[in-house]
Amino acid sequence: MNVLVVGGAGYIGSHAVRRLLLNGHIVWVYDNCSLGHAAAVPENLLLQGDLRDQEKLTGILREKQIDAVMHFAAFASVPESIAEPAKYYDNNVVGTLRLLEAMRAAEVWRIVFSSTCATYGIPEKSPISEETPQRPINPYGFTKLTMEQALEAYAQAYGFGYAAFRYFNAAGASPKGDLGEDHNPETHLIPILLQVALGQRPHIAIYGDDYPTPDGTCIRDYIHVDDLSDAHIRALDLLEPGQGIRLNLGTGHGCSVQEVLAACRQVTGHPIPAVQAERRAGDPPELVADNRRALQLLGWEPAYPQIEATVETAWRWHQSHPAGYGD
Ligand code: UFG
Repeated sequence: MNVLVVGGAGYIGSHAVRRLLLNGHIVWVYDNCSLGHAAAVPENLLLQGDLRDQEKLTGILREKQIDAVMHFAAFASVPESIAEPAKYYDNNVVGTLRLLEAMRAAEVWRIVFSSTCATYGIPEKSPISEETPQRPINPYGFTKLTMEQALEAYAQAYGFGYAAFRYFNAAGASPKGDLGEDHNPETHLIPILLQVALGQRPHIAIYGDDYPTPDGTCIRDYIHVDDLSDAHIRALDLLEPGQGIRLNLGTGHGCSVQEVLAACRQVTGHPIPAVQAERRAGDPPELVADNRRALQLLGWEPAYPQIEATVETAWRWHQSHPAGYGD
Protein backbone atom coordinates (compact mmCIF):
# COMPACT_ATOMS: atom_id res chain seq x y z
CA MET A 1 0.00 0.00 0.00
CA ASN A 2 0.94 3.65 -0.29
CA VAL A 3 0.95 4.76 3.34
CA LEU A 4 1.14 8.28 4.74
CA VAL A 5 2.57 8.22 8.25
CA VAL A 6 1.47 11.40 9.98
CA GLY A 7 3.79 12.11 12.89
CA GLY A 8 6.20 9.60 11.38
CA ALA A 9 9.28 11.40 12.68
CA GLY A 10 8.25 10.82 16.29
CA TYR A 11 9.16 8.02 18.67
CA ILE A 12 6.53 5.44 17.72
CA GLY A 13 5.94 6.74 14.19
CA SER A 14 9.58 6.40 13.15
CA HIS A 15 9.62 2.75 14.19
CA ALA A 16 6.41 2.16 12.20
CA VAL A 17 7.95 3.82 9.14
CA ARG A 18 10.92 1.47 9.26
CA ARG A 19 8.73 -1.59 9.58
CA LEU A 20 6.39 -0.48 6.80
CA LEU A 21 9.39 -0.12 4.51
CA LEU A 22 10.68 -3.56 5.53
CA ASN A 23 7.27 -4.96 4.64
CA GLY A 24 7.44 -3.50 1.14
CA HIS A 25 4.99 -0.64 1.52
CA ILE A 26 5.53 2.73 -0.13
CA VAL A 27 5.83 5.25 2.67
CA TRP A 28 5.61 9.01 3.06
CA VAL A 29 6.15 10.80 6.33
CA TYR A 30 4.22 13.95 7.20
CA ASP A 31 5.57 15.74 10.25
CA ASN A 32 6.13 19.33 11.37
CA CYS A 33 9.17 18.17 13.39
CA SER A 34 8.00 20.15 16.43
CA LEU A 35 8.50 17.03 18.54
CA GLY A 36 9.63 14.62 15.85
CA HIS A 37 13.18 14.34 14.56
CA ALA A 38 14.08 14.61 10.88
CA ALA A 39 17.06 12.32 11.60
CA ALA A 40 14.66 9.53 12.62
CA VAL A 41 13.34 9.01 9.06
CA PRO A 42 14.89 8.63 5.62
CA GLU A 43 15.40 12.16 4.30
CA ASN A 44 13.73 11.59 0.94
CA LEU A 45 10.47 10.44 2.56
CA LEU A 46 9.90 13.43 4.81
CA LEU A 47 7.22 15.97 3.86
CA GLN A 48 7.22 18.81 6.34
CA GLY A 49 3.83 20.16 7.31
CA ASP A 50 1.36 20.74 10.08
CA LEU A 51 -1.48 18.41 11.00
CA ARG A 52 -3.92 21.33 10.85
CA ASP A 53 -2.99 22.20 7.25
CA GLN A 54 -5.92 20.47 5.60
CA GLU A 55 -5.18 21.79 2.12
CA LYS A 56 -1.61 20.58 2.17
CA LEU A 57 -2.66 17.20 3.50
CA THR A 58 -5.35 16.84 0.85
CA GLY A 59 -2.82 17.65 -1.87
CA ILE A 60 -0.35 15.08 -0.57
CA LEU A 61 -2.98 12.36 -0.17
CA ARG A 62 -4.02 12.89 -3.78
CA GLU A 63 -0.60 13.37 -5.30
CA LYS A 64 0.96 10.34 -3.59
CA GLN A 65 -2.16 8.24 -4.21
CA ILE A 66 -2.29 7.25 -0.58
CA ASP A 67 -4.23 4.09 0.34
CA ALA A 68 -3.91 4.31 4.12
CA VAL A 69 -2.96 6.77 6.83
CA MET A 70 -1.23 6.01 10.13
CA HIS A 71 -1.74 8.87 12.53
CA PHE A 72 0.82 9.31 15.32
CA ALA A 73 0.93 13.11 15.48
CA ALA A 74 -0.25 14.04 18.95
CA PHE A 75 0.76 15.71 22.14
CA ALA A 76 0.84 12.99 24.78
CA SER A 77 1.87 14.36 28.16
CA VAL A 78 -0.77 14.07 30.85
CA PRO A 79 0.54 16.87 33.11
CA GLU A 80 1.00 19.23 30.15
CA SER A 81 -2.56 18.52 28.98
CA ILE A 82 -3.84 19.59 32.39
CA ALA A 83 -1.81 22.82 32.30
CA GLU A 84 -2.45 23.59 28.61
CA PRO A 85 -5.69 21.93 27.47
CA ALA A 86 -6.10 24.37 24.54
CA LYS A 87 -2.89 23.07 22.99
CA TYR A 88 -4.14 19.48 23.31
CA TYR A 89 -7.61 20.09 21.91
CA ASP A 90 -6.19 22.16 19.06
CA ASN A 91 -3.69 19.55 17.92
CA ASN A 92 -5.20 16.23 18.96
CA VAL A 93 -8.83 17.05 18.14
CA VAL A 94 -8.90 19.96 15.66
CA GLY A 95 -5.78 18.72 13.89
CA THR A 96 -7.06 15.16 13.63
CA LEU A 97 -10.42 16.39 12.27
CA ARG A 98 -8.53 18.31 9.59
CA LEU A 99 -6.73 15.11 8.68
CA LEU A 100 -10.01 13.18 8.49
CA GLU A 101 -11.49 15.91 6.29
CA ALA A 102 -8.45 15.82 4.03
CA MET A 103 -8.90 12.05 3.76
CA ARG A 104 -12.55 12.52 2.90
CA ALA A 105 -11.68 15.05 0.19
CA ALA A 106 -9.03 12.75 -1.25
CA GLU A 107 -11.21 9.66 -0.86
CA VAL A 108 -8.81 7.82 1.43
CA TRP A 109 -10.78 5.70 3.89
CA ARG A 110 -8.21 3.59 5.78
CA ILE A 111 -6.70 4.93 9.00
CA VAL A 112 -4.82 3.49 11.96
CA PHE A 113 -5.13 5.83 14.91
CA SER A 114 -2.99 6.01 18.05
CA SER A 115 -5.24 6.03 21.08
CA THR A 116 -4.25 5.36 24.66
CA CYS A 117 -5.03 3.52 27.85
CA ALA A 118 -5.47 7.02 29.31
CA THR A 119 -9.00 6.88 27.82
CA TYR A 120 -9.90 4.39 30.60
CA GLY A 121 -9.13 6.78 33.46
CA ILE A 122 -8.93 4.82 36.73
CA PRO A 123 -10.45 1.46 35.84
CA GLU A 124 -12.12 -0.66 38.49
CA LYS A 125 -10.60 -3.92 37.27
CA SER A 126 -7.18 -5.02 36.07
CA PRO A 127 -6.21 -6.19 33.49
CA ILE A 128 -8.26 -3.77 31.41
CA SER A 129 -10.39 -5.18 28.59
CA GLU A 130 -11.67 -3.10 25.69
CA GLU A 131 -15.17 -3.26 27.23
CA THR A 132 -14.00 -1.31 30.29
CA PRO A 133 -15.90 1.99 30.40
CA GLN A 134 -13.79 4.83 29.02
CA ARG A 135 -13.80 7.60 31.59
CA PRO A 136 -10.69 9.75 31.11
CA ILE A 137 -9.42 11.79 34.04
CA ASN A 138 -7.34 14.32 32.09
CA PRO A 139 -7.61 16.41 28.90
CA TYR A 140 -5.13 14.19 27.06
CA GLY A 141 -7.36 11.16 27.59
CA PHE A 142 -10.44 13.16 26.59
CA THR A 143 -8.87 14.31 23.31
CA LYS A 144 -8.06 10.72 22.35
CA LEU A 145 -11.50 9.44 23.34
CA THR A 146 -13.13 12.26 21.36
CA MET A 147 -11.24 11.15 18.26
CA GLU A 148 -12.12 7.49 18.79
CA GLN A 149 -15.76 8.59 18.83
CA ALA A 150 -15.29 10.78 15.74
CA LEU A 151 -13.71 7.86 13.88
CA GLU A 152 -16.67 5.66 14.69
CA ALA A 153 -19.03 8.34 13.37
CA TYR A 154 -16.90 8.74 10.22
CA ALA A 155 -16.98 4.98 9.74
CA GLN A 156 -20.77 4.90 10.01
CA ALA A 157 -21.47 7.98 7.92
CA TYR A 158 -18.62 8.10 5.40
CA GLY A 159 -17.38 4.53 5.20
CA PHE A 160 -14.03 5.03 6.92
CA GLY A 161 -12.34 1.81 8.04
CA TYR A 162 -10.26 2.36 11.13
CA ALA A 163 -8.20 0.76 13.86
CA ALA A 164 -7.90 2.65 17.15
CA PHE A 165 -5.03 1.22 19.17
CA ARG A 166 -5.05 1.94 22.87
CA TYR A 167 -1.38 1.88 23.70
CA PHE A 168 -0.23 1.10 27.18
CA ASN A 169 3.30 2.35 28.01
CA ALA A 170 5.41 2.48 24.85
CA ALA A 171 9.03 1.60 25.66
CA GLY A 172 12.30 0.37 24.18
CA ALA A 173 14.18 1.20 21.00
CA SER A 174 15.14 -0.43 17.72
CA PRO A 175 17.27 -3.55 18.33
CA LYS A 176 20.17 -1.93 16.45
CA GLY A 177 19.95 1.05 18.80
CA ASP A 178 19.65 3.64 16.02
CA LEU A 179 16.03 4.71 16.63
CA GLY A 180 14.80 5.54 20.09
CA GLU A 181 13.09 7.82 22.54
CA ASP A 182 14.15 11.48 22.54
CA HIS A 183 11.79 13.84 24.35
CA ASN A 184 12.66 17.27 25.64
CA PRO A 185 12.00 17.51 28.51
CA GLU A 186 12.04 13.79 29.23
CA THR A 187 9.34 12.67 31.65
CA HIS A 188 9.13 8.93 31.05
CA LEU A 189 10.38 6.41 33.54
CA ILE A 190 12.73 4.21 31.49
CA PRO A 191 14.61 7.00 29.66
CA ILE A 192 15.07 8.85 32.94
CA LEU A 193 16.42 5.72 34.66
CA LEU A 194 18.87 5.21 31.79
CA GLN A 195 19.93 8.85 31.91
CA VAL A 196 20.84 8.26 35.56
CA ALA A 197 22.88 5.21 34.49
CA LEU A 198 24.66 7.42 31.93
CA GLY A 199 25.54 9.93 34.65
CA GLN A 200 23.29 12.63 33.16
CA ARG A 201 21.11 12.78 36.27
CA PRO A 202 22.04 12.12 39.91
CA HIS A 203 19.07 9.89 40.77
CA ILE A 204 15.54 8.86 39.90
CA ALA A 205 12.63 10.22 41.96
CA ILE A 206 10.03 7.52 42.60
CA TYR A 207 6.64 9.20 42.53
CA GLY A 208 4.75 7.59 45.39
CA ASP A 209 5.37 4.42 47.39
CA ASP A 210 1.99 4.17 49.07
CA TYR A 211 -0.18 2.98 46.19
CA PRO A 212 -2.38 -0.09 46.73
CA THR A 213 0.09 -2.34 44.87
CA PRO A 214 2.37 -5.10 46.27
CA ASP A 215 5.45 -2.82 46.60
CA GLY A 216 3.53 0.46 46.84
CA THR A 217 4.70 1.84 43.48
CA CYS A 218 2.59 2.26 40.32
CA ILE A 219 2.18 -0.63 37.94
CA ARG A 220 2.27 -0.14 34.17
CA ASP A 221 2.34 -2.40 31.13
CA TYR A 222 5.49 -1.56 29.12
CA ILE A 223 5.03 -2.54 25.48
CA HIS A 224 7.97 -2.48 23.09
CA VAL A 225 7.73 0.13 20.35
CA ASP A 226 8.49 -2.50 17.69
CA ASP A 227 5.59 -4.60 18.95
CA LEU A 228 3.36 -1.55 18.54
CA SER A 229 4.65 -1.09 14.97
CA ASP A 230 4.05 -4.73 14.18
CA ALA A 231 0.40 -4.42 15.26
CA HIS A 232 -0.06 -1.37 13.02
CA ILE A 233 1.15 -3.18 9.96
CA ARG A 234 -1.05 -6.19 10.64
CA ALA A 235 -4.04 -3.88 11.00
CA LEU A 236 -3.65 -2.53 7.46
CA ASP A 237 -4.89 -5.80 6.01
CA LEU A 238 -7.90 -5.95 8.30
CA LEU A 239 -9.43 -2.54 7.64
CA GLU A 240 -12.88 -2.71 6.07
CA PRO A 241 -14.97 0.23 4.92
CA GLY A 242 -17.53 1.24 7.53
CA GLN A 243 -15.90 -0.78 10.29
CA GLY A 244 -13.73 -0.02 13.28
CA ILE A 245 -11.36 -2.12 15.36
CA ARG A 246 -10.59 -0.93 18.88
CA LEU A 247 -7.76 -2.80 20.56
CA ASN A 248 -5.55 -2.63 23.61
CA LEU A 249 -1.86 -2.95 22.81
CA GLY A 250 0.10 -4.12 25.83
CA THR A 251 2.06 -7.16 26.94
CA GLY A 252 -0.64 -8.19 29.40
CA HIS A 253 1.90 -8.05 32.25
CA GLY A 254 2.39 -5.25 34.73
CA CYS A 255 5.67 -4.00 36.19
CA SER A 256 5.93 -1.73 39.19
CA VAL A 257 8.28 1.27 39.21
CA GLN A 258 10.50 -0.72 41.59
CA GLU A 259 10.58 -3.65 39.16
CA VAL A 260 11.51 -1.38 36.24
CA LEU A 261 14.24 0.14 38.41
CA ALA A 262 15.57 -3.35 39.21
CA ALA A 263 15.55 -4.28 35.50
CA CYS A 264 17.46 -1.12 34.61
CA ARG A 265 20.03 -1.78 37.34
CA GLN A 266 20.48 -5.32 36.06
CA VAL A 267 20.81 -4.35 32.39
CA THR A 268 23.13 -1.37 32.94
CA GLY A 269 25.13 -2.69 35.88
CA HIS A 270 24.75 0.78 37.40
CA PRO A 271 23.38 1.21 40.96
CA ILE A 272 20.88 3.92 39.76
CA PRO A 273 20.25 5.75 43.05
CA ALA A 274 16.57 6.31 43.83
CA VAL A 275 14.86 8.79 46.11
CA GLN A 276 11.28 8.71 47.30
CA ALA A 277 9.06 11.57 46.15
CA GLU A 278 5.43 12.65 46.37
CA ARG A 279 2.83 11.04 44.15
CA ARG A 280 2.55 12.66 40.72
CA ALA A 281 -0.89 14.11 39.98
CA GLY A 282 -3.02 12.02 37.65
CA ASP A 283 -1.18 8.69 38.03
CA PRO A 284 -3.56 5.72 38.22
CA PRO A 285 -2.15 2.99 40.52
CA GLU A 286 -2.28 0.21 37.93
CA LEU A 287 -2.74 0.04 34.15
CA VAL A 288 -2.31 -3.39 32.60
CA ALA A 289 -3.78 -4.49 29.28
CA ASP A 290 -6.00 -7.43 28.69
CA ASN A 291 -4.53 -7.96 25.22
CA ARG A 292 -6.41 -11.11 24.22
CA ARG A 293 -8.48 -9.40 21.56
CA ALA A 294 -5.37 -8.03 19.82
CA LEU A 295 -3.69 -11.45 19.96
CA GLN A 296 -6.72 -13.05 18.38
CA LEU A 297 -7.70 -10.46 15.81
CA LEU A 298 -4.24 -9.45 14.60
CA GLY A 299 -2.51 -12.80 15.08
CA TRP A 300 -0.08 -10.62 17.00
CA GLU A 301 2.17 -11.54 19.87
CA PRO A 302 4.59 -9.21 21.65
CA ALA A 303 8.17 -10.18 20.80
CA TYR A 304 9.32 -8.46 24.00
CA PRO A 305 7.16 -9.84 26.82
CA GLN A 306 9.92 -9.28 29.42
CA ILE A 307 10.86 -5.83 30.70
CA GLU A 308 14.60 -6.69 30.72
CA ALA A 309 14.67 -7.30 26.95
CA THR A 310 12.83 -4.04 26.33
CA VAL A 311 15.23 -2.14 28.59
CA GLU A 312 18.22 -3.73 26.81
CA THR A 313 17.14 -2.17 23.51
CA ALA A 314 16.56 1.21 25.15
CA TRP A 315 19.97 1.00 26.82
CA ARG A 316 21.67 0.36 23.47
CA TRP A 317 19.98 3.51 22.10
CA HIS A 318 20.83 5.70 25.09
CA GLN A 319 24.45 4.57 25.14
CA SER A 320 24.96 5.24 21.44
CA HIS A 321 22.87 8.47 21.48
CA PRO A 322 23.49 10.14 24.86
CA ALA A 323 22.12 13.42 23.45
CA GLY A 324 19.29 11.75 21.51
CA TYR A 325 19.15 12.75 17.83
CA GLY A 326 21.23 15.80 18.68
CA ASP A 327 18.81 18.30 17.18
N1 UFG B 1 7.71 7.67 37.31
C1 UFG B 1 8.51 7.87 38.41
N2 UFG B 1 9.56 8.72 38.28
C2 UFG B 1 9.84 9.40 37.13
C3 UFG B 1 9.01 9.17 36.01
C4 UFG B 1 7.95 8.30 36.14
O1 UFG B 1 8.28 7.30 39.47
O2 UFG B 1 10.81 10.17 37.10
C5 UFG B 1 6.56 6.74 37.43
C6 UFG B 1 5.24 7.42 37.15
O3 UFG B 1 4.74 8.02 38.30
C7 UFG B 1 4.42 6.23 36.66
C8 UFG B 1 5.43 5.33 35.96
O4 UFG B 1 6.70 5.76 36.43
O5 UFG B 1 3.90 5.54 37.76
C9 UFG B 1 5.41 5.48 34.45
O6 UFG B 1 5.48 6.87 34.13
P1 UFG B 1 5.72 7.42 32.66
O7 UFG B 1 5.77 8.91 32.78
O8 UFG B 1 6.85 6.71 32.05
O9 UFG B 1 4.42 6.95 31.89
P2 UFG B 1 2.88 7.24 32.22
O10 UFG B 1 2.33 5.94 32.70
O11 UFG B 1 2.66 8.40 33.08
O12 UFG B 1 2.39 7.71 30.79
C10 UFG B 1 2.03 6.83 29.81
C11 UFG B 1 2.11 7.55 28.45
C12 UFG B 1 1.04 8.61 28.36
C13 UFG B 1 -0.29 8.00 28.70
C14 UFG B 1 -0.25 7.39 30.06
C15 UFG B 1 -1.55 6.77 30.45
O13 UFG B 1 3.37 8.13 28.28
O14 UFG B 1 1.02 9.12 27.05
O15 UFG B 1 0.74 6.38 30.08
O16 UFG B 1 -1.69 6.83 31.82
F1 UFG B 1 -1.25 8.93 28.70
